[in-house]
Amino acid sequence: MTRTVQTSVCIIGAGPSGLLLSQLLANAGIDTVVLDRKDRAYIESRVRAGVLEQGTVEAMEEAGAADRLHREGLPHEGFKLAFDGDQHRIDLTGLTGKTVMVYGQTEMTKDLFDKRTAEGQAFYFNVDDVVPTELKTDRPSVHFKHDGEQVVVECDFVAGCDGFHGVSRRAIPSDILRTFERIYPFGWLGILTERPPVSHELIYANHERGFALASMRSETRSRYYIQCDVNDDVADWSDDRFWQEFARRLGPDAAANLQTGPSFEKSIAPLRSFVAEPMRYGNLFLAGDSAHIVPPTGAKGLNLAAADVRILNRALVEYYKNGNAQYIDTYSETVLKRVWKVERFSWQLSTLMHQFPENSDFEKRMQRAEFDYLCSSEAASRSIAENYVGLPLD
Ligand code: APR
Ligand code: PHB
Repeated sequence: MTRTVQTSVCIIGAGPSGLLLSQLLANAGIDTVVLDRKDRAYIESRVRAGVLEQGTVEAMEEAGAADRLHREGLPHEGFKLAFDGDQHRIDLTGLTGKTVMVYGQTEMTKDLFDKRTAEGQAFYFNVDDVVPTELKTDRPSVHFKHDGEQVVVECDFVAGCDGFHGVSRRAIPSDILRTFERIYPFGWLGILTERPPVSHELIYANHERGFALASMRSETRSRYYIQCDVNDDVADWSDDRFWQEFARRLGPDAAANLQTGPSFEKSIAPLRSFVAEPMRYGNLFLAGDSAHIVPPTGAKGLNLAAADVRILNRALVEYYKNGNAQYIDTYSETVLKRVWKVERFSWQLSTLMHQFPENSDFEKRMQRAEFDYLCSSEAASRSIAENYVGLPLD
């Protein structure tokens, strides 16, 4: 027995991309069905980054889901880069007139789930065997299993918001899909601890022993990272070992205010840069991690996904409201132009701030010279700042 469901846009994935797209389309009166292979509790349990560009905050405001973000988020006007203990502050507001908002991505996902649920959004959780079909026709469909029942969603468009490991990208024929990838020779070991942050602004540090990042979730909860071997086992990293390494890499000045304590989350993540082209195939549109991955150094993963969604939402609303397919037809070209610029920034900052096993002494000097140039050039600092606060949508 197959259940058939009709909608305008079928969204595969209920992470930040899928939820934000569903809300923005709902605000324009466009009906969606959202399906995910996990459930809400699992999706909300994933620990992710926590720096939002102004554009992402605006997207949440457009979605009508920014109240808690403005109550609990921490506006930041700058951050620090450190090299072997020397520090340079990137004055985001002084250089760009903008700020970024420190607010856990998990919180943003919760806010979007609350809003979509309050508005009666149709969700299918814990689905299996998702297969997008008929993508080159005017009425594509998405088949899947849910609660032991075969379901088919017939729609006008399919939004592939199912992340790096999803099925949407793989629905694009291999003779059309092109992928580009850089896998970094290290990982990030991250912890969460209920201790006040070591600094009221983020500190990105490159030390001869490796990279470290001091971030936060609130004024009482800190998020810290150190570069580690991608094959490291979290079990080999006791809290004491982490704190000792973290303090060494920050340097004595920055670590002077470090309050250590028990970690309640500890995990290792690999780093990669990845882009899939095109981001449209027939009436399938990719948005977010289904189409691209950035190393977390530039805090761009969620922000790049939100920008994709804003561009896709504009295209779909223009089509439904005015019958104009112009933005739909140029979606992939438009969004990829920005994706590659953000990939460049994330790669550049990762290359500058990490210790690469294969780096020669010359390349290590180039890293230090780049840092010294940033310290001495307002133009160079402005370049970092304008990328960090977020590039224009197009
Ligand atoms: N069928 C249905 N849902 C799927 C499938 C599938 N075959 N495969 C994956 N999913 C779901 C996942 O369970 C997840 O909830 O798609 C969702 C994808 O969410 P994310 O991986 O978070 O990707 P995205 O929404 O694009 O978010 C991008 O937020 O989560 C971070 O690291 C991510 O910073 C990035 C940003
Ligand atoms: C985080 O707070 O998790 C975070 C902040 C900035 C980054 C990466 C991660 O560049």
